[in-house]
Order: sequence, then structure tokens, then C-alpha cells
Amino acid sequence: MKKDQINALLAPSSIAIIGASATPGKIGYTVIKNLLDSKYSGNIYPVNPKDDEIQGLKNYKTLAEIPGEVEAAVIVVPAKFVSDVIDECGKKGIKGLIIITSGFSEVGDKALELEIVSKAHSYGMRILGPNIVGTLTNSTKLNASFAPYLPLPGKASLITQSGALLIAIDAISYTRGVGFEKLISIGNMSDVDFADLITWLDDDPNTSCISLYVEGFKDGRRFIEAVQKTNKPVIALKSGVSAHGAAAAASHTGSLAGSGKVYDAAFMQAGALRASDLNNLFDRTLALSLQPTMKGDNMLVLTNGGGVGVLATDAAEKYGVPLKFAPEDVQVELKKHMPDFGSAKNPVDMTGMAGTDWYYKTTLFSYGHKWVDGLVVLYCETAQTNPEEIAKSIRKAVDESGVKGKPITVSFVGGERSDKAMRWLVEQGVPAYNAPDLAVNAMAALREFHLLREMVGHKPRGTNLLDDKIARTIIAKARKEGRGALTEIESKQVFEAYGLPTAKTILSTTEEEAVSQAKKIGFPVVMKIVSPDILHKSDAGGVKVNIKDEAGVREAYNTILANALKYKATANIHGIAIQEMAPWGTETIIGSVNDATFGPTVMFGLGGIFVEVLKDVTFRVAPISESQAVKMLGEIRGAPILAGARGEAPRDRKALADVLSKYAAMIHELGDEIAETDANPVLVYEEGKGLKVVDARIILKTK
Ligand code: COA
Repeated sequence: MKKDQINALLAPSSIAIIGASATPGKIGYTVIKNLLDSKYSGNIYPVNPKDDEIQGLKNYKTLAEIPGEVEAAVIVVPAKFVSDVIDECGKKGIKGLIIITSGFSEVGDKALELEIVSKAHSYGMRILGPNIVGTLTNSTKLNASFAPYLPLPGKASLITQSGALLIAIDAISYTRGVGFEKLISIGNMSDVDFADLITWLDDDPNTSCISLYVEGFKDGRRFIEAVQKTNKPVIALKSGVSAHGAAAAASHTGSLAGSGKVYDAAFMQAGALRASDLNNLFDRTLALSLQPTMKGDNMLVLTNGGGVGVLATDAAEKYGVPLKFAPEDVQVELKKHMPDFGSAKNPVDMTGMAGTDWYYKTTLFSYGHKWVDGLVVLYCETAQTNPEEIAKSIRKAVDESGVKGKPITVSFVGGERSDKAMRWLVEQGVPAYNAPDLAVNAMAALREFHLLREMVGHKPRGTNLLDDKIARTIIAKARKEGRGALTEIESKQVFEAYGLPTAKTILSTTEEEAVSQAKKIGFPVVMKIVSPDILHKSDAGGVKVNIKDEAGVREAYNTILANALKYKATANIHGIAIQEMAPWGTETIIGSVNDATFGPTVMFGLGGIFVEVLKDVTFRVAPISESQAVKMLGEIRGAPILAGARGEAPRDRKALADVLSKYAAMIHELGDEIAETDANPVLVYEEGKGLKVVDARIILKTK
């Protein structure tokens, strides 16, 4: 991506509007009006075959007539004319195409969309859209859109897949007092996508925070990489829970992956914060665009009201930044600025007696104290106090503390006077909210972002490249035989090649072989049918466990064979696997899917009922770092079972995290071949005793 191509789209020095119109109400009229109203300083060239003048500007009958260079074109002609217009743009040497026109892939016409992209690329042009509202920038006073006006100025830039939402956010920016530098409509993302824009915005001196409204990505990995490389906070509101892939899933893992959990994982791995809803997107955007991150765990809450203090305490726990009592020295100092019946613990309740001076002194001290990593100041409007004065005292204290790089958020709970004071605070760079839980949520976002970025720095685990030769030979053999899946034995061989511990399993093709192999492995053993035509072995009566002696092996051998042939008379039977009977441990499942958007994705959960009924699983886009693997183990609801619930010894989580990261590396490396996998169950033993994959399944990609 060349930077100047995105410059042409987001910061053009001149713009042609193709489909400009003198008729009020037409989009081609509105775009010209918006460019004039916003006082865009670059050259504006209306292009329309009929007119001589449009809204006081000279109109050009064709693009070619425009003297000199034109950097960008806004296209507002009907879809059927767009392709020809692109030729004209290419010949004119335009660099960026802002295509507002609808009627492409969003209505099923993918071919037309592909045509315009390849045509644009052939001239070295890039496309924003089609099917967009346009793009708006405060610093260059550019409203190249049909949204009504430039948003309230601010430091956040927003990219949205919904044009209607852009128009709504534009208006809400004023009522909510959350300012934006840019609003960018991305539409069908036929060419320029989230990753391109995020990369550009990372270098934009006028943008301090990047907010997203996301419906879906085309290439999820590009998004992850772009966000990981960004220094600025990225915050995403994701709508729509996709079930892609789930219906056709051949593995257990595949059927669990369609629930939006892969998107959750991807945002986390990218280091992008989430917003829970549109209001939360505004709240978090405000905090992230104005304040530094919270580097440690200690959040202090100052308040003049017990009630809002308790609400803040509840919110702190809910949003993952639970309050701790302030240390003794902090309490002693704060006690000086409250009546006897106040509390200096945390929340620090100065009581309704608190006036401007106490707010000033407690803020000055707390904000400056090294124990405090983030300060939340709450205020309930009282008859004795003036919200504007309180606001000023808070700002003054922060300035005079001389402290930099520490976040503060504020909540004033009251009427119009409080609202006015908060608007002033926001203008002064202090995020202010009308409810205590919102101020705490904003602070939690600043903490969460810090932690997410730390995690992003951890390198994903790779594999020993020699390993894939064994796997690829096994896969090639299966493909040659026309199979879409590996047998259990083959799957285990692949796992073993990547250093995953599997229960010892040997194939036998005769009863005698079965007996001698069972003796070699040692009794008791498990016996299972091995047939590419029988994936669900138990359903076919193809599994016998706890076989204790030679007679048992002989009997099981014949019963399993008979059952298998009864289940499917034409089944191609490779033989019967003799497997060591692994001692029972905590049942877990590791699996993977090759997600349509994000590619190879690993899953972990507790096995049995936990996965079957509760779907208690978590995902990551592969590969993953070992610290991500550790985090996954802690994420499932059943995590206490691994930690050793009800007096049981803790399970070997270290070995489990190691295996999980190796598994992720394996599916990533074999991403071109493997569609889905299951290691189920994976039995996990006590600390130091490791784990064992008891059953394995690998489904190949269709090629
Ligand atoms: N070069 C220059 N001008 C051209 C042209 C060409 N090759 N072909 C047509 N025009 C002119 C027309 O003469 C007309 O000007 P006029 O008003 O003076 O007659 C103007 O371009 C617009 O064409 P028109 O046929 O009147 O279309 P329209 O204005 O009704 O609709 C769109 C055009 C692009 C707005 C419409 O097709 C569309 O896509 N609307 C949806 C936009 C949208 O919602 N985007 C997504 C938001 S999320």
C-alpha cells in the first residue's frame, strides 16, 4: 500500500465530483454543497455533461477538460456508468476514487465490483467503497460526503462499515460532546480495507485513537497484523454473529466455531479493545482519544457521595479493575480533607461536605501519588457547590501535579450545570461522564488496552520446520487414495511429529498381530476400528476398552470387525488399532478450524459435558504465544477444575499450555492442507505428570 494513494483518498489537495448536480436533493448536489460549506481549501471540480456552472463553481463537461492535475474523484453516477467513469479518471491521472454509488456486491453484483477494482488498479488508482457515504476530515475541512456537516472536532478517527451509522455518529458527536478528526465510510471494502486505513491513521498526527464499526472482514489476518503494528489505541464495535462454516463442520470443533468467538479472539490477539454497544463506543473513544493508558492495577476513586462511590466500586469489579484499599500514607493524607465521618479507604468519600478546595487538594495529592495508577473523580451536584468550580479545581490540580502519563476520568451526576461543567472538562482533555459506572468503564478501557498491548508483544510459537515432512507425506498418501480425512492412527502420527503426546497406538491387520501388539503395549488395552469410512467409531460399535488379556483381544477383534461391516458393509477397513489404555485424567478438548476469515484457528475447552452441553470453549487465531495459551486455560468457565477444585490436585497446566501452543503452531503450518482437527479427549494429569491425546481426527481441506 503506497501511502500517497491513501493520502489521495483521505487528504486530497483537489477533488472532482463526477455526477455533480445542480438539482437540490440529489447526492451529486449535496456533495458539492458540503465541500463548499465545510470550507474545503483544495480545488473543487464539478463534472456533469450538461451544466456550465454548479453552485457558483465552473462545471466541466468532461474530466479531460479540467486544467492541471486532480488528485481524487468522488463518483456519484449510477452504477452502470461507474466503469466508464473509472477509465476517464485513469486517463486523467487521478489517484484515489471515492465511490459513493451503490449497486455492486451488496446487491449481488460481484462481477461489476471486481471489474471496477481491476480497472482502477490498472491505472494505479485505489478505491474507497463503493456504497459509501464518503469521507470527512476536520483538520482539512473536507466534507466529501452526503453526511450533513463535519463532526465535532476531536482526536479520534472512525472507520465504519455502515454508512447510516456514520451519519448518526456525525450528529451524536455534538450531543455527546465526543469529537472526531475523521469519519470514514468504508462500504463494500472492494479495495481499501480496515487494515489499509488503520495503517495510514497510525501515522496521522491529528488522530490519537482509531474507532471502528465492524460487520465483518474479508481478510482477518491483515486486520490483526495492522492493529498489532499500530501504536494508537484501536477500539471496535462488532455487530452480527456469523455462523459461517458451522453448518458444514465435520469435526466437533468446527461446530463450535461459528458463534463469533473467533472474532472475539481475533480482536484480542490484534490488541483491539471492544465496545459493548454504540454508547460504549463513544464512552471508550472519548477516554482513549484524550487520556494515556493505565499502567498498573491501582485505581483510586474520589467522591462526595457514598452512593456513587458504591456504584463505582461495583463497576470496578464488573469491568476488571477491582478497587483496593489505599495504603496507610495515602489514607492519612486524604483524611485531612474530609470530616471525621468521611472515609479515606477507597472509594475515598469526602462526604457531601466536600467543596472546591477539598476536591482540589485530594485530586492534587492522589493524582501525584505513585501508588495511584488511575484516578476517577466523582461528584454529585449539591446546593452548596458549583459544578463549574469543582471542574476547574480538578483540572488545576492535575496541571499543578506536574504528573504526565497517568489517566484520569470524571463523572458529574447532576443537572444542566453539571453537564456544562463536564463539557468544559472534555474540552480541557478530561473525559467526563454522567454516571459513575461510565467513568469507571472508561478507566477500565485504559487499563485493558495497556494489558492487551503487553500481550501483543509476545511472539507466537513456531514449529521445527523439519516436522512438516512427516505430516505432508501422510496427507499426500491419504489424498492419493482419494480420502478427505486421515485415520486415527495417521492423525496421531501427525500429532506425534509435532511433539504432541499421544496414547501409543499400533495398527493390526490380523488377529495374531493384534495379540502380539497388545502384549507389546501391555494390558489393559483399547481396540478401535480403523476405517476412512467410519469417522464415528463408537456409533459403529467399533471401540472396546479395558481389554485385559489375550482372549479378550481375540474376542474384541472379531466383534469389532463384525460390527463395522454391519454398520457399513462396503467400508474400507485398514485394520484394528491397539492402543494403550491411558490412565483416566481430567478430560479436555483441543481442536481447530480453518476459519473463512481468519484461517487456522485453535480451540480449547474442558471435554465431556462441558463441551457437549455448555460449549465452554475458547479460540485463538493460530499461531499463538505460550502466554496466550496460558490465558486460554484461564478463560473457560471450567478453569477452576484445572486449578484443582474440590480438594483435587491442580492439573498440569504448564504442560497443557505447552501442548496447546504446539498444536496451534502445527495447524498454522499445515493451514494449506488441514480443514479441521480434534484431539478429544486430551487427558490431563496432576502437575508434573503431563497429558495424553487419546483420540485424534484430522479432516483435510477440499482442493
Ligand atoms: N459524468 C458526469 N456526470 C454524469 C455522468 C457522467 N458519465 N453520467 C451521469 N451524470 C450525471 C447525471 O446527468 C446527473 O446530473 P443531473 O442531476 O444534472 O441530471 C448526475 O450525474 C447523477 O445521475 P442520476 O442519473 O441523476 O443519478 P442519481 O443522482 O439519481 O443517483 C447515485 C446517483 C450514485 C446517487 C445513485 O445511483 C446511488 O447509488 N445512490 C445510493 C447512494 C448511497 O446510498 N450510497 C451508500 C451510502 S451507505
